[in-house]
Formats: sequence, structure tokens, C-alpha cells
Amino acid sequence: PFQVELRRTGRTVTVTPDMSVLEAVRLAGADVLSSCEQGTCGTCLTPVLEGAPEHRDSVLADHERTVGDCMLPCVSRSCGDRLVLDL
Ligand code: FES
Repeated sequence: PFQVELRRTGRTVTVTPDMSVLEAVRLAGADVLSSCEQGTCGTCLTPVLEGAPEHRDSVLADHERTVGDCMLPCVSRSCGDRLVLDL
């Protein structure tokens, strides 16, 4: 599990292995649009403020993965213990 802080919402949620980051942030009250929920459409693109996303999508370009300032939370997760999202 890892923690996701929704900085604008002011909440932190725990993401367990059986749930996506998208599901977790929705439970915390964030309103994130989605479509494919398989990491292919780009609809759920979310800015990352702190932490290193573990990218599992097929949308971002290599340089965007390296920079790590956005992620697709329907499929992507966290490399570390904590992510801070601009939600
Ligand atoms: Fe399509 Fe996340 S909903 S990439």
C-alpha cells in the first residue's frame, strides 16, 4: 500500500493493492474524469506534485514518464510510499 495526498482537497488516502489510484481518489472525493480505465485513452491524466509515479499506461511519452509530473491514475501506481496529486 502507499499513500496518496490530494493537495487541493486536503485529504490523504491509502491505496491498497486491490484498488486503483483512480478509485482511491474518488473515494476521497476527487472528481476525476475517466473513460477507458485501461491506461490507453489519456482522459484521467492527473498532475503529480511530489513522489514518483510507477507508470503503467500506454499514453505518456518516454520523456513524460521520466519527468514524472503527471500520471494516468486508472492504471499507474507509486514507486514509493507517497504521491502528492494536484487534486
Ligand atoms: Fe483512459 Fe485513464 S481512463 S487512461
